[in-house]
Amino acid sequence: MSAMRTEDAADGKSTANGGGVVCQEGGVTVLRPTDLSEMLAAGTKEVHEKAENTEFVKDFLRGRIRKELFKLGHVALYFTYSAMEEEMERNKEHPDLAALYFPHELHRWDALARDLQYFYGEDWQDQISLSPATQRYVERIQQIGRDQPALLVAHAYTRYMGDLSGGQVLRKVAQRAMKLPPTGEGLNFYQFDGIHSAKAFKQLYRSRMNELELDSHTKQKIVEEAVLAFQFNMEIFGELEEVGKSLQGDVLDAAPVHGAHGAHGEMQGDISQCPYYAGFTNFFCQYLFICLFIYLFIYISVY
Ligand code: HEM
Repeated sequence: MSAMRTEDAADGKSTANGGGVVCQEGGVTVLRPTDLSEMLAAGTKEVHEKAENTEFVKDFLRGRIRKELFKLGHVALYFTYSAMEEEMERNKEHPDLAALYFPHELHRWDALARDLQYFYGEDWQDQISLSPATQRYVERIQQIGRDQPALLVAHAYTRYMGDLSGGQVLRKVAQRAMKLPPTGEGLNFYQFDGIHSAKAFKQLYRSRMNELELDSHTKQKIVEEAVLAFQFNMEIFGELEEVGKSLQGDVLDAAPVHGAHGAHGEMQGDISQCPYYAGFTNFFCQYLFICLFIYLFIYISVY
């Protein structure tokens, strides 16, 4: 089996969760096509490109964010993360999940609750409800939490790895577009206080996924479940687009945030890691993408 060496591992640092410690020698990781992290990246590449091209996501990145839609998006996230984190909590000792249990570093439920309180006020819980697409997503998470907990890996991967790949850029776009306080109220979801380096943490998370003792059938099922998770997210985007059509005005154009051409603007490291790069057929996008990469490279070198 051919193996690929990458140098963008966890900066040679170690991180702990649940008492376990993972160290990466010399910052070098060996990846194989049969590694779950590689299978997930390859298996979700196509659906990921589709998610990237939904109108809701594209508008968001352009800073065309309607506050009402942003709030509804947060509501959907709140119910989704509540279900996912409840199931992760219930299954935290399951051998297929224990190594991915990082409540302090990753869990978003509390951050989303604080954001919703900011947007809706003290009685926020009385004001929010599950949309049909969110309900289907939540029901699926609860069902696999009961019957096939290993598949929760797919949902955790889809959300947390995505959030860690784009949080700061999305935060800046949203903050500027909706003129939210720079102190972070309403934007706690994007803030991972327990994670010093998103890049290092993602590398740790990938290595934890690869260390799970899973047979190839289960790995394949996890990849299929991740595709489903992307589809659930896209259904929610579709719902928000529909709501958006019925809203008047309320579009706030943010000045573009440097590097905000992609949801996941903090693409430090190897450009070939980006599952979307091949999808950037538009020359202008490629140009912007390369500029961003050069900027990040210079920034990292200097600081
Ligand atoms: C315009 C929209 C988007 C763009 C341009 C984009 C771009 C990217 C890029 C470049 C990466 C690689 C980052 C790295 O390796 O450090 C990435 C990772 C990721 N993104 Fe996005 N993304 C978008 C939307 C989404 C959405 C909507 C989701 C899910 C709901 C998502 C989930 C993920 C996941 C799970 C990863 C981790 C891939 C892996 O390393 O295996 N992305 N994205």
